[in-house]
Amino acid sequence: MKVLLTGGAGYIGSHTYVALKEHGHEIVILDNFSNANRLVLDRLAQLFQEKVEHVEADIRDRSTLDDVFEAHKPDAVIHFAGAKAVGESATDPLKYYSNNVSGSQTLLEAMDAAEIRNIVFSSSATVYGVPQALPLTEDHPLSSTNTYGATKLIVEDMLRALHGADPRWSVAILRYFNPVGAHPSGEIGEDPGGIPNNLMPYITQVAVGRLAQLKVYGDDYDTSDGTGVRDYIHVSDLAQGHVAALKLMNTGTCTPINLGTGTGYSVLDMIKTFERVNEVSVPYSIAERRPGDVAANWADAQRAKELLGWQAQLGIEAMCADGWRWQSRNPKGYDQTN
Ligand code: NAD
Ligand code: UD1
Repeated sequence: MKVLLTGGAGYIGSHTYVALKEHGHEIVILDNFSNANRLVLDRLAQLFQEKVEHVEADIRDRSTLDDVFEAHKPDAVIHFAGAKAVGESATDPLKYYSNNVSGSQTLLEAMDAAEIRNIVFSSSATVYGVPQALPLTEDHPLSSTNTYGATKLIVEDMLRALHGADPRWSVAILRYFNPVGAHPSGEIGEDPGGIPNNLMPYITQVAVGRLAQLKVYGDDYDTSDGTGVRDYIHVSDLAQGHVAALKLMNTGTCTPINLGTGTGYSVLDMIKTFERVNEVSVPYSIAERRPGDVAANWADAQRAKELLGWQAQLGIEAMCADGWRWQSRNPKGYDQTN
């Protein structure tokens, strides 16, 4: 298929580019580089010895979208573009409504006008709110506990309404659990600006010496060792999940699907495994709980297996080894002059 990746220069988008290329798909990236480094395009070009087709544009720019659809005529869109920091969504909510909600609406309008009615959407396990039961199945009630999550839920609702009104649309709503790690080449990986919010980039930046110490947010949860438990998924597995989700294009269905491993690990499990497989030390101290955190969540991953024939292959050792290979080879991320 010919696939447009909005936000394709970002962390998950760049890994999905690799997986799609390996499966012979044709790809165009559309990204405004608000949270990505242009050097990622050079890395992707090196991996495949081929120029990366890309457009520097914002998904809120309707006329450019129209031009891109006319010029490239993609069969489907995988829609990663958006803002994703929970804390920032509390202090700058309009950025989130604009990028995530208005941006998605503009994209869908342009797709409809161009008669491209196949979309894979990046949603998040955050739409389950506070888990009422584990593992989380796709039928778990939906709610939001922060503005970022609210915008994901609104876009999911927009997609369900659109499909309800016009069943020519095919929609795969992928609810990611906790993507971590990097491509095993060490050439692409997660490169957050500023101080990382998420656990794995924080661990890798402590290990490489950019940050002094990790704070473990709470050790008094009702979990095996008291620290928070999450369903970490290797970003390369997640990327393969997008390749598999293309099966649902041109089916006239609208389906939410969890992308997780089905297994939860604690913060201490992650630190200890990282230290063991990489033979590095990750100094940490126990701190207060982070407001808004839940004790534990992990996916029921059955639906992805049944509908897409996809399941995660890589365990936390590979997540830790590959995350470290990326960070240790690129201590400052893509731009070593930072
Ligand atoms: P990322 O920030 O690395 O990638 C997003 C990309 O979109 C960036 O390259 C950014 O420059 C681009 N972008 C942002 N706003 C844009 C706009 N208006 N127009 C064009 N491009 C724009 O994030 P990621 O981790 O790769 O996440 C991708 C998607 O998956 C996001 O929608 C995110 O909310 C969702 N998601 C991520 C996680 C996670 O833990 N990383 C978990 C669940 C869901
Ligand atoms: C967070 C977001 C979630 C979002 C997801 C994207 C919050 C409250 N939730 O999920 O909405 O979809 O990122 O990936 O921000 N931890 C530490 N020290 C740190 C960082 C994290 O102990 O410096 C712990 C957390 O308390 C948690 C676990 O590590 O138990 C994972 O945290 P994180 O990587 O931020 O992911 P989530 O909180 O699951």
